Amino acid sequence: MEQEIEAAMPVQDTINDRPAHNLPPVGTQIRVFAPATVANVVCGFDVLGFAVNEPGDEVIMRVTETPGITISKITGDNGRLPLAPEKNTVSVSVQAYLESIGRTDIGLDIELHKKMPIGSGLGSSSASTVAGLFAIKNLMGDDTDVAKLLPFAMKGEEMACGHGHADNVAPALLGGFVLIRSYEPLDVIRLPHPKDLHCAIVFPDVDVPTREARQIIRTKINMKDAVTQWGNIAGLVSGLYTQDIDLIGRSMQDVLVEPVRSILIPDFYKMRELAMEAGAVSFGISGSGPSVFAFTRDEETAKRINQILQQHLTSLKINSYAYTSTINDAGPRVL
Ligand code: HSE
Repeated sequence: MEQEIEAAMPVQDTINDRPAHNLPPVGTQIRVFAPATVANVVCGFDVLGFAVNEPGDEVIMRVTETPGITISKITGDNGRLPLAPEKNTVSVSVQAYLESIGRTDIGLDIELHKKMPIGSGLGSSSASTVAGLFAIKNLMGDDTDVAKLLPFAMKGEEMACGHGHADNVAPALLGGFVLIRSYEPLDVIRLPHPKDLHCAIVFPDVDVPTREARQIIRTKINMKDAVTQWGNIAGLVSGLYTQDIDLIGRSMQDVLVEPVRSILIPDFYKMRELAMEAGAVSFGISGSGPSVFAFTRDEETAKRINQILQQHLTSLKINSYAYTSTINDAGPRVL
């Protein structure tokens, strides 16, 4: 019995005096980008999401001598995010992953570079968390399916906004358009999409924390609304499979969440009218807002819509940021 235990113990690395199995040498460093995401996709509250090309967050992760995780630097957050590793979603999810593989003996230092707005409805915490998890997976030379990281990323979401939904973290991690068919058990499905589907995104610079945007949603719905909603979700998914952009557009209607959350977004219905007039296929809230997005058939229309919406927000004296993107099928990447 003793012998068996001996054999299962990792071999010591004489240089670093630590278990050598899968532990990279002190000083090894990796830099990872993970993308922003549009969750809900209008009718699919908590079950649909897709990744975009930009914006996104970067994590630099370095192997250090002393076991444990430190966060030495966070940029682009205006001091809003905690450096304390037990309070930061990146380190908490990385720690959960290390515990799962029995490697809490590693020393790690993390730099988080926020390259996207916080509290924007673009999956800011997810982008950071996924960048961290993708970094540690690569550092550890872990070649298991990236989807295995999902529960750790959801833990980060739970910490960030009180609920472990997967409709930001799953597309940030897997790339592309994603359906969370079930949470218990977790069943995540990559959906196809028309290659020429473009996305216009505008972030009106007002704060809408996801935690609060979740608290105002009705928890009981009536059957008539439920029928409308699941008809639309099925229509959207069908449209994605059949590359039917008209069907995608007319299915993207939300009778459950948008009527409540739209009050948190400046001139939401006027922005919808302007976007649709300018040629949008569909328009809605990105995640829990305040960002809004429109699908278009080409980049030119997406750019025009962004310009019109930003002009409108400027007329309301609201600062804004805009992005255009196709759907990002790649997800996170090592830089
Ligand atoms: N499905 C989540 C929500 C996404 O709408 O609260 C948050 O970005």
